[in-house]
Amino acid sequence: MTSAALIRLGLRDEDLPMSERLSTPDTLLDQVDLHTFRSVMGSLPTGVSVVTSLTADGEPRGLTCSAVCSVSASPPLLLVCVKQPSATLEAIHQSSVFAVNFLSAGMAETARTFASPVPERFEGVPWSAGKRTSAPLLDNTVAFAECILTSSHLAGDHQVLIGRLVHGDVSTTNTPLAYWRAQFSEVHAHPAA
Ligand SMILES: Cc1cc2nc3c(=O)[nH]c(=O)nc-3n(C[C@H](O)[C@H](O)[C@H](O)COP(=O)(O)O)c2cc1C
Repeated sequence: MTSAALIRLGLRDEDLPMSERLSTPDTLLDQVDLHTFRSVMGSLPTGVSVVTSLTADGEPRGLTCSAVCSVSASPPLLLVCVKQPSATLEAIHQSSVFAVNFLSAGMAETARTFASPVPERFEGVPWSAGKRTSAPLLDNTVAFAECILTSSHLAGDHQVLIGRLVHGDVSTTNTPLAYWRAQFSEVHAHPAA
């Protein structure tokens, strides 16, 4: 509904349900500080991934990423959220491909390395080029997904990247690395009672 239509009906924006309002009331904005946002969102346990790509010169780039989510099964789509600016994001936009490496329980040090400002994150980290995209696949993960970038959306200070899976595989033996309230932990299966 447009503002003109609202006026014709004698309605104000505030009369509409929240989901249909044309504008967000100022009173609802800026009431959550960064600390609150981080502690609330950090309470959701996540897996830990390293998202990788290649620059135009074929140099590997990668960052630790917990904002990874399945989007669609048909076609097979996933999303990753990457903060701007980012060397890895730049490489993804250059190559239009990326890989998501789901880290295993013993890879907390790898997660720290790929989140740190060290210039050469791949030094000492065994990897090989993905067979469909050439994006770096780290050894010894729980699973990996090679993706073609299908779209990229600005959301606040992050880019939401949608990728179409073109190749993936899983380990039948490794268990995942998890992240919860700023700490790494392991996941142990407890069959539901
Ligand atoms: C457990 C963990 C999860 C993270 N998740 C994300 C994420 O989802 N998106 C993001 O942009 N940065 C995330 N980071 C921070 C980046 O890894 C870090 O800022 C990195 O240096 C960015 O690298 P780049 O500038 O080379 O892209 C995470 C860090 C850690 C330790």
